[in-house]
Amino acid sequence: MTILRVCRLIEVPEGEAKRFVVRNFDVAVYNLGGRVYATDDTCTHGPSSLSDGYIEGDTIECPFHYGSFHIPTGKPIKFPCTIPLQVYQTQIIDGDIFIVVN
Ligand code: FES
Repeated sequence: MTILRVCRLIEVPEGEAKRFVVRNFDVAVYNLGGRVYATDDTCTHGPSSLSDGYIEGDTIECPFHYGSFHIPTGKPIKFPCTIPLQVYQTQIIDGDIFIVVN
């Protein structure tokens, strides 16, 4: 298990998703009503950046083909997305957001 720093909390305003490069992969960080979540940024259906998508409640809609995922669990909830999205446990320490990777 490894804990990686992603960004400052203030870089992800409430209700938004932002993309960050952590080591060699892209991570989408979401601020949903002050709760912070992180997933892989790349859609499991194609090469789209989910942080460019649309947040509705606790879901993210992909901007390419409008499939969607449940952000806290990564579960696909709308076709054509059928493969779960990798989610990362988050921690906030002194205003920095960290993710836990295996
Ligand atoms: Fe995301 Fe197709 S690339 S729904």
